[in-house]
Amino acid sequence: MSELKIRILTPADWLTYKSVRLASLKDAPDSFGSTYERESAFSQSEWESRLDPTGRAKAALPLIAEFTKNPIGIAWGLVHDTDSKVAHVYQMWVSPDARGKGIAKALLDRIIAWAIARNCDFIELSVTTTNDAAVGLYQNSGFLASGQVEELREGSTLMTKMMVKDLRNAA
Ligand SMILES: CC(C)(COP(=O)(O)OP(=O)(O)OC[C@H]1O[C@@H](n2cnc3c(N)ncnc32)[C@H](O)[C@@H]1OP(=O)(O)O)[C@@H](O)C(=O)NCCC(=O)NCCS
Repeated sequence: MSELKIRILTPADWLTYKSVRLASLKDAPDSFGSTYERESAFSQSEWESRLDPTGRAKAALPLIAEFTKNPIGIAWGLVHDTDSKVAHVYQMWVSPDARGKGIAKALLDRIIAWAIARNCDFIELSVTTTNDAAVGLYQNSGFLASGQVEELREGSTLMTKMMVKDLRNAA
C-alpha cells in the first residue's frame, strides 16, 4: 500500500476527524464505550478541542490513516495527566473495505513507538471481549489481558477486558 499515509490530526482537521469518528461509531457500536448519538451532538469547538495538543491529556497522538488522501482509519494514543508512565490506545477503527491489510497494525505500531519514545512503562487499552479481530490485533502486538473486566457502557450486556503491553524492555 504505497499510497498509505498515516499522519497526526490537528484542530484544522476537525471536520475530517468528525466524519471518520462518527463513521466508526455507526459501523462498530459494540466496539466503543461512546456512542454515535452522543458524539453526533458535539459542536465544532468540541471536535476542535479534542484535537488540541494543549487540551485535556498530558500528551496525545491522534492518528489518521489515509489511502490516496481518503480517510480509512483512525486511532489515538493518549497519556493522561494522572500517570505519565502509562499510555492508552483509544478509538481504533479501520473502514470495513480496508480491513485485513495491516492498517490497524500500522496505526498501533506508531502509537507503541510514540509511547516508548515518551518513556512510558506500559501501554493499555480496553477491548470488547467478543471482538475477535481487535483482540487478535492486540495479542499479535504483545498485549496481554490484565484480568480487569467491566461493562462496555452503563447498562450494556457487553463486557470489555483491559489489555496491557509492558514497554520496559522494549526500547
Ligand atoms: C479491529 C480492526 C481495527 C482491525 O483492523 P485491520 O486493519 O483489519 O487489522 P490488520 O489488518 O492490521 O490486522 C493486524 C492483525 O490483527 C489481527 N486481526 C485482524 N483482523 C482479524 C480478524 N478478523 N480475526 C482475527 N484476527 C484479526 C491479526 O492478528 C492481524 O495480523 P495478521 O494479518 O498478521 O494475522 C478492525 O477490524 C475494526 O476497525 N473493527 C471495528 C472497530 C474495532 O473493533 N476497533 C477496536 C476497538 S478496541
